[in-house]
Amino acid sequence: MAKLCVNVDHVATVREARKTIEPDPIAAAILAELAGAHGITIHLREDRRHIQDRDLRIMQEVVKTKLNLEMAATKEMIDIALSVKPDQVTFVPEKRQEITTEGGLDVISQEDYLRRAIKKFKEAGIPVSIFIDPDLKQIRSAKKTGADCLEINTGKYSEAKTEKELDVEFEKVKSAVKFAYKSKLTVHAGHGLTYSNVKRVSDLREISELNIGHNIVARAVLVGMERAVREMLNIINQYSVRS
Ligand code: PXP
Repeated sequence: MAKLCVNVDHVATVREARKTIEPDPIAAAILAELAGAHGITIHLREDRRHIQDRDLRIMQEVVKTKLNLEMAATKEMIDIALSVKPDQVTFVPEKRQEITTEGGLDVISQEDYLRRAIKKFKEAGIPVSIFIDPDLKQIRSAKKTGADCLEINTGKYSEAKTEKELDVEFEKVKSAVKFAYKSKLTVHAGHGLTYSNVKRVSDLREISELNIGHNIVARAVLVGMERAVREMLNIINQYSVRS
């Protein structure tokens, strides 16, 4: 069975909407672990739009399973990661204007740079994963960087509008997963996975880990709404002045 790493970025997104202290992604990470998650993923972005440096530091202390830090392979992030030492880092492309990570990293155009960056993490004993599109040329290049693992981008598969498109995109993911596995890389997958489209992906036995965030946080908000409203009504009822 593929392991599940829960991405709690969007708990921090809600907190940052008010620049307040709740909901705390640390609490969400602990609850996700209590529910059986095999790991916690966070993305410390250059613009700190959701996860903050404080979150990373505390997560590193409290996460008991595995902390996977998604990051751009910039000097700033490499320095932070080498000092905090998460259990794994995943290199992702990052654009300020994007709503979420758009597409995998272009490894081919920066193979030497990535090889040097990965060497630093190897020396620090931190495994590196690269988020990559289901593209065999990119996978071949990623293998040469010395990365331990590839996370195959399921974004296009998850955005497919028709059954035909879904089949085409799934086949691309499947071939990439098998190719990466044969290249002796650990294979992860993620982006846009939901309670329904995860089924076919879970069936690929070469995938050892799935990274899922948005759909789990979206569901958590809804399944928790009734209880949250009842709790508030109880307090209001209890303290209302009755005439
Ligand atoms: N994998 C990577 C590399 C990502 O950047 C993200 C989004 O932060 C995910 C997986 C999770 O995607 P989603 O939130 O759509 O489940």
